[in-house]
Amino acid sequence: MKKIVLLSALILLVASVNADARIRIKGRGAAMQFDPASFPPNLQASLQLMNRKCVKCHTMERTVIAVLTGRAPITGQRFERQAVKAYGIKMLRKPNSGMNKQDIREVVVLLNYILEQNSKW
Ligand code: HEC
Repeated sequence: MKKIVLLSALILLVASVNADARIRIKGRGAAMQFDPASFPPNLQASLQLMNRKCVKCHTMERTVIAVLTGRAPITGQRFERQAVKAYGIKMLRKPNSGMNKQDIREVVVLLNYILEQNSKW
């Protein structure tokens, strides 16, 4: 009996640590976004930048879905660390993207951080 209690406590502990590491999502549909409370202070500015720049042509839902599923929702390509930079550059090159290379660099670092947090099990 004692062993079972101990084991359940351990499982609970591991589960809650994992829940903390993952980036939480707020809102549904078009209002879907990464929960700012999941990010450390040094990334808050980058998060604001992404939330401002990357919603010009589509909502954040598209980016959130890509990160959560590991698949880019429109083309169905893999969305992972190695691919993030290419997506960033693709978005930058779109007409009237309103972004510069520095913006993209910041967003790529941020997206890689999110992917890394979410891959911790
Ligand atoms: C100038 C308009 C524009 C801006 C700004 C923009 N996007 Fe996009 N985005 C698009 C279009 C159009 C698509 C449709 C698929 C394509 O053409 O790649 C798209 C698709 C996507 C996809 C899905 C890609 C796929 O292959 O399924 C993701 C993820 C994405 N955008 C993320 C971002 C991020 C992150 C930013 C900010 C750095 C951003 N977008 C800024 C226009 C834009």
